[in-house]
Amino acid sequence: MTRLPDIAAIEAMDAADPFRDFRDRFLLPHGVIYLDGNSLGAASAAAVMELQQATHEEWAQGLIRSWNTADWWEMPIALGDRIGKLTGAVPGQTVVCDSVSINLYKVLHAAMALRPLRSVLVAEASSFASDLYIAQSVASSRPGASLRLEGVDAPALEDLLDRKTAAVLINHINYKTGELLDMAALTRKIHAAGAIAVWDLSHSAGAVPVELDAAGADFAVGCTYKYLNGGPGAPGFIFAAQRHLADLRQPLIGWWGHARPFAFEPTFEAASGIRRFLCGTQPVLSMRALKGALDIWDSVDIAALRRKCIAMTDLFIQLVEAKCGDYGVVLASPRDGAKRGSQVSFTHAHGYAIMQALIERGVIGDFRAPTTIRFGFAPLYISYRDVWQSVAVLEEILRMGVWQHSRFNRRAAVT
Ligand SMILES: Cc1ncc(COP(=O)(O)O)c(C=O)c1O
Repeated sequence: MTRLPDIAAIEAMDAADPFRDFRDRFLLPHGVIYLDGNSLGAASAAAVMELQQATHEEWAQGLIRSWNTADWWEMPIALGDRIGKLTGAVPGQTVVCDSVSINLYKVLHAAMALRPLRSVLVAEASSFASDLYIAQSVASSRPGASLRLEGVDAPALEDLLDRKTAAVLINHINYKTGELLDMAALTRKIHAAGAIAVWDLSHSAGAVPVELDAAGADFAVGCTYKYLNGGPGAPGFIFAAQRHLADLRQPLIGWWGHARPFAFEPTFEAASGIRRFLCGTQPVLSMRALKGALDIWDSVDIAALRRKCIAMTDLFIQLVEAKCGDYGVVLASPRDGAKRGSQVSFTHAHGYAIMQALIERGVIGDFRAPTTIRFGFAPLYISYRDVWQSVAVLEEILRMGVWQHSRFNRRAAVT
């Protein structure tokens, strides 16, 4: 077994961390170790400043004029291209709009429509639940279509690929276990079967390198309120490969996706390019916060970010197993850092209560039923000392049985 690092070694890791100065750009509360950036990213000073400018100046003073003067109208496309930079997509293929679930509805219909002679949509049973609901909705609303699930209808995705498969929806990183899949290899297999590859990047954008163009991905959706720190309820994004854009049809047609929105014509004609994924008015204030949040990413070296992500999650696993292994916590994430996103999950029969006790002591992660406790390590604002300290708190809670108190066992609406 490798030797556990001591606190001097941890401090040396922080001193050598290329992101050590980034933390000051976030408005984190004092005394909190925030390990839930995989669910809701931290507020940055830049995001809050943009929000203030958007409310105090652009809305309060500029009023309706700001659609033009503050470029509100163009934000979905402008922000989309900035996210494209982080996800390996050349400009013109990414748009920011709506929620991930709504975007997935649009994208899955568009993907199925590109394979009109095929009827099967494939997804993973382990997907985030909303992805499954949307996949069910899309399959049931298309005559003759059906949904097949990896983990229910066959053990492996590959076994579900045949000449009937129209589209495959895959989560790049699993929300519960943090498992990272090989986008390029799976996309190749999906294409070899003649199907369309749709990726959910909710847990990978801003956490790991993503290369949509290089992988040959057809479509993707993703989230901006997790690792990208766009703020609560920040809109999602859609990627559609350039080669599909001319033929794309999506079901939620509205005036924002019209070729001439301000002509108010009675019949719909889709805008050219990625803009056709827009439907109606977009959440301007959320987009303005996201604009500020993305500024930080202009100076982030994604390869260095990935190295820190693996080092932190490796360290967390090593420390938890060494110090808490006797108390019933079991690793639920891949042990191999190359197959893991920026999150580590453990299971424990009393996971909910343990997480509540951690949160009361300032270590904020979250819980996913029935037994998973999740810890997200956002490399821009988490230090190696945070990793060390969070394990010390977890060990104490387990050793002392703190979690057994009744106040930690009352379920809140959001877990
Ligand atoms: C993997 C994944 N897909 C989809 C969603 C749903 O996102 P939204 O609530 O924006 O529709 C989430 C939300 O956490 C998610 O983690």
